[in-house]
Amino acid sequence: MLPSGEGWAFAPSSVQSVRRLPTEKEIHKENRLTPNLPDYKKAYKGFQWEAVRTELGLVPPVNLASKAVDQHASSWRRNKVALYWEGAEGQNCKYTFYELKNESNRIGNMLLNLGVRRGDRVFVFLPRIPELYTSVIGIAKIGAVAGPMFSAFGPEALRDRLLDSGAKVLITHTSLRERIHRVWDELPELRHVIVVGASTSGGHMPLRKGEVSFEREVEKSSRGLEVEDMDLEDPLYILYTSGTTGKPKGVVHVHHDMLSHYITSRWVLDLKEEDVYWCTADPGWVTGTVYGIWGPWLNGCSQVTFEGRFDAEHWYSIIERYGVTVWYTAPTALRMLMKAGPEVVKKYNLKSLRYILSVGEPLNPEVIRWGMEVFGLCIHDTWWQTETGAIMIANYPSMPVRPGSMGKPFPGTEAAIIDGKGNKLPPGSSGILALKPGWPSMMRALWGDEKRYKEYFTIPGWYTTGDTAHMDKEGYFWFIGRADDVIMTAGHRVGPFEVESALVEHRAVAEAGVIGKPDPERGEIIKAFIVLRHGHKPSRELEEEIKEFIRHRLSAHAYPREIQFMDGIPKTRSGKIMRRLLKARELGLPEGDLSTLED
Ligand code: WT7
Repeated sequence: MLPSGEGWAFAPSSVQSVRRLPTEKEIHKENRLTPNLPDYKKAYKGFQWEAVRTELGLVPPVNLASKAVDQHASSWRRNKVALYWEGAEGQNCKYTFYELKNESNRIGNMLLNLGVRRGDRVFVFLPRIPELYTSVIGIAKIGAVAGPMFSAFGPEALRDRLLDSGAKVLITHTSLRERIHRVWDELPELRHVIVVGASTSGGHMPLRKGEVSFEREVEKSSRGLEVEDMDLEDPLYILYTSGTTGKPKGVVHVHHDMLSHYITSRWVLDLKEEDVYWCTADPGWVTGTVYGIWGPWLNGCSQVTFEGRFDAEHWYSIIERYGVTVWYTAPTALRMLMKAGPEVVKKYNLKSLRYILSVGEPLNPEVIRWGMEVFGLCIHDTWWQTETGAIMIANYPSMPVRPGSMGKPFPGTEAAIIDGKGNKLPPGSSGILALKPGWPSMMRALWGDEKRYKEYFTIPGWYTTGDTAHMDKEGYFWFIGRADDVIMTAGHRVGPFEVESALVEHRAVAEAGVIGKPDPERGEIIKAFIVLRHGHKPSRELEEEIKEFIRHRLSAHAYPREIQFMDGIPKTRSGKIMRRLLKARELGLPEGDLSTLED
């Protein structure tokens, strides 16, 4: 039986909106631009990955990082700006492709000097500063596997990822290193911690045993690097993502992914030579790695990155000052901008914008309508996952948008709505959203976890996504909900198990059950139900203390914004927390089958 999608505040209703918005063709016409994908139907029909291989000049052995950077550094794009960086305090700088090549080469050499070899895991725990980008490229150039981690992670989240991946080296920042110190003892394979900012103009910060200064090591390293030739199936990066049970899973992606990165950036993001592109996602999430590093640079495109957090005025001013033309962001951010009001928008000149996309959670039609009003552009939704490695379902520039729909499958891929046996369901029926395995950027493994990897392929012939959806008669896909307990909060995937595990580490918490609760701004927020240990009483103070505990220990994006103290948590007879029941009660929905509930 399929779970219902009632949990979704914005789950598009099955009644499809018929109000027609201007097609991107019309908008392009006004801008006198031809979409890179002028005819979706035609492209879908005649698609060949082989043609993309030729277009990209992909002849193995090859290294994705040199395709994305060095190739341009030795072409007429040498002095083209690859990265515009703006710091949290408004400071800024830029890197040309040539500079990006040199910097990443030096980082590659630094790592080689420290004994890093092909296949070793090097994790990166940095704020969104230029060193984050040059490090990831440098790591890939020497054939090591990059593991970007979000800078809001706490010690617990770091330990899980570094331990599981057996990372040998971590690149971090003075402002974050303390979090590593707290768990380093538990990481036998972590040999070096490279610290950015430890020896800058302000003097030298004392380093611990095993720590080295990024600046000093880079200074010693040559700009000449022999880039490692890779097999297309060699690992490129690992990103951890959450499931319903167990610790986060290390999704492994390979150099072959570049085919998907390249062509989806061309056809979905519609990137062109003269574009200034801004992806607001952090490279600690897959959107920030694939469409904030690889995809746009494989296309030789100029990118903007902003170190700071969300701020409506600052965001608009970035668009204005850098002349951003293509913008990839998340529905939560758009809803926050919408909330900031029309007066704020009017203060900025946003005329440079020509194309806007979103990903991560349902894009509600009212946000699309708001976008039409304030930007004069239709926001294009895209759907994909950490595991798919690239956009799989999208709205294309040349195709009319149906507000609330995720769009249609990318050429060269097949998406379907299936039942539990793998039968395709007819248009209009809700079912499991599944993909035909075999596209280039499909994850190749879960690091060290064959068993959980196989769980994605239990229905013969299909990769199952964990989402439920339906398809209309014209082949547009409509998101319904998650088929599992995974929480999507502000576009970030959070596993209830991780939060529950962190909660019970608090001295006052005996048991915890965690659910996603619909929220008009964030899509969902995390709500925790907590049973206290003997001798502890519910109080406002304790509630705040527990929230802080999770923020610092696990991550600032994964703390429960709501806590409810209870006398007991509903569990199955085998002891599993019945999150579905917690959720049904929270939302006042039917409780469903309770036969497995413990007495
Ligand atoms: C899950 C994947 C790679 C994008 C960032 C999230 C949800 C993604 C949409 C969309 C509704 C969406 C799904 C999916 N999701 N895009 N357009 N509409 N839901 O990556 O952390 O791997 O999460 O995000 O539930 O399975 P992720």
